[in-house]
Amino acid sequence: MKESAIGIMDSGIGGLSVVLAVRELFPSCPIVYFADPLHFPYGEKEERELFAIVQPIVDFLVYGVGVQILVVACGTVSSLLLPRLQRGYSVPLVGIVEPACREALVHVPEGAIGVLATRATVRAGSFRRVIERLRPGTPVIEEAWPEFIEAVEKGTCNTLAWKVWVRERLERLHEQGVRGIIMGCTHFAFISDFFEELSRDLFPVINPAASCAREVAQILPRAELCASSSLTVFVRGNQEHFIDAVQNFRFPLPMEVHSFSDVRGWVAYGLP
Ligand code: DGL
Repeated sequence: MKESAIGIMDSGIGGLSVVLAVRELFPSCPIVYFADPLHFPYGEKEERELFAIVQPIVDFLVYGVGVQILVVACGTVSSLLLPRLQRGYSVPLVGIVEPACREALVHVPEGAIGVLATRATVRAGSFRRVIERLRPGTPVIEEAWPEFIEAVEKGTCNTLAWKVWVRERLERLHEQGVRGIIMGCTHFAFISDFFEELSRDLFPVINPAASCAREVAQILPRAELCASSSLTVFVRGNQEHFIDAVQNFRFPLPMEVHSFSDVRGWVAYGLP
């Protein structure tokens, strides 16, 4: 059954936003999710270090699990490594940058587009480049909010103090001419309700999860023929913390969680 699964990966809970969106379009297809809290935050890493961290995950999902497609549900990995990873594997790899930018241009006909992301994503300038290619001359303002990403991963983001912090930054972006913001980090997409509430009177919030899932559907139009709706999760790092976070945010899909320590072990001894 696992060989027809859709693989989805992120450093932590952020990519679960993409799991939800993919599940909506593929109600009966197994999903295998990989979370890597051991190496969180990806957004503070350099490209070379990140590649060494991510490549074994992709190997595991592609060769060990045998996924038919892999969604890189992480803005940082999509920004820094996607083309390199795509060249190395024969299954399709989908990232969030291109789908999110296309969606943003539909919802933001004029004015600047804001991108909220990790430091590594902002440094890479991936969203800016794609938007420039799709609609040259569109102003883009990218901001890194690493401290808030950490609060989301820890589940401590829902306080009044954080709401005030976020609202002030959103107002400042609006004053700078931003007329729509892209959740360029899936940790923000995971709490898109939080952002929608705080920016309702300012601008639309572009959540990459749905557009990313639509891209998967374009590549795998027949995947709805799968017969299992399982969600299997592998966690490299603190499994209890991951489960706490999932419960804390009331993630609605049941899942079977396994702790993951060694790629070779899983491939050699078989998958659960
Ligand atoms: N969810 C990851 C992203 O979309 C970021 C979190 C991290 O820094 O690990 O970029």
